[in-house]
Amino acid sequence: MLPVNEAELIDKQGYPKAVELSERVHWIGALDPSLRTFDIILKTANGTTYNAYAIRGSDGVAVVDTVKEGFAEDFFARLESIADYDEIKVIVLNHLEPDHTGALPELMRRAPGAQLYISQKAQAMLKALLKQDQMSYTPVLTGDCVSLGDRTLEFLHTPYLHWPDTQCTYLPEEKFLFSGDVFGCHFCDNRLFNDRAGDFRFSFEYYYAHIMRPFRDHVVRALDLIEPLPVSTIAPTHGPILRDRPDRYVRRYRQLSGSLLESEISPGHKTLLIFYISSYGNTRRMAEAVYSGAMQVPDVRVSLYDLEGGEVEPFVDLIEEADGLVFGTPTINGDAVKPVWDLLSSLTVINIKTKLGAVFGSYGWTGEGVPLVEDRLRGLKMRVPIPGLRVKLIPTDEELEACREFGLQLAQELMGLRARKVIDMADLV
Ligand code: FEO
Repeated sequence: MLPVNEAELIDKQGYPKAVELSERVHWIGALDPSLRTFDIILKTANGTTYNAYAIRGSDGVAVVDTVKEGFAEDFFARLESIADYDEIKVIVLNHLEPDHTGALPELMRRAPGAQLYISQKAQAMLKALLKQDQMSYTPVLTGDCVSLGDRTLEFLHTPYLHWPDTQCTYLPEEKFLFSGDVFGCHFCDNRLFNDRAGDFRFSFEYYYAHIMRPFRDHVVRALDLIEPLPVSTIAPTHGPILRDRPDRYVRRYRQLSGSLLESEISPGHKTLLIFYISSYGNTRRMAEAVYSGAMQVPDVRVSLYDLEGGEVEPFVDLIEEADGLVFGTPTINGDAVKPVWDLLSSLTVINIKTKLGAVFGSYGWTGEGVPLVEDRLRGLKMRVPIPGLRVKLIPTDEELEACREFGLQLAQELMGLRARKVIDMADLV
């Protein structure tokens, strides 16, 4: 009988017990229904779960992931309900964040005969997180596997989903994919399975948007590994276990990792987005001149947006697809203005590394806004090859011409047409 309520997670004496996913696979995780914020920034209206799993083979038991430290008691009680510690031969950590490694040191103490398997990239992290130099482990990559006799664990290297260390583990005899945080969500429901739990779709989408989206190139590479596998059940580390039509969730990741916008842009064309805000119209006049200069380059689709409305959310999808971003800001009280910072801070959910970036703006006294935003763009690992352009108060005709030249150079840079600056060594002496 499959569990449908909390009573089936607890034995007759009131101790947590393991939940059967198949004859050989059990859930041994923990529920955290009262959590309302995860990692400081993620909202968790329905709490979360820390899913861990035990797999029984003819030659021993494997434990895949553990739980957050404060939930170790539930984890060990569930593990003890289906296995003895001396049966545990293998411990796999798909991801080393503390919500999955909290019970690891104690598990290794209780099961000294177990060998620990982690991804190649997890090695330094293991020492840093657990502060244990003596811990013995085996680093693994895609194609590596470990046998439990009549059950096998195969490893898939899926880095940056959402930490560098992350991997997935596949159990071919059962067609189970232990996916770590991938395909997970923060949604606590004691019915455990996707075909029994409440509607968690919003949480699945929210989790992807905040955790996986910044790494969508890595999501695509992981899906290339996962999609060919026959999968009966996806067993993530958070949220419902996806046993009913798990392929739907793989397909959804494929959709989400592609472009979210119908493409307006022809192949071979580039997009340059100019965002500005202006107090007295001076930065606006500069923005319009930058825009007209950039428009001179064929095959560059230039767009101009005023941030005065204060909206940033609608621009995030556009920015993810864009090739170049230009920001126009006045300087007020020695800083760029809040709408520009708001837009920049909203970009942490997408990958903008290597996009072209540039900044311009009018100022009255000292003009710190432009260099401060330039520093931020470099901090986001954007390319900022053309120095920011500043104008004191009202731009003159010559300064507006310089703005047009600035826009032209940015567009040329996007298309690879900008003349490289040749440094004459004689100029340096
Ligand atoms: Fe659930 Fe990234 O830890």
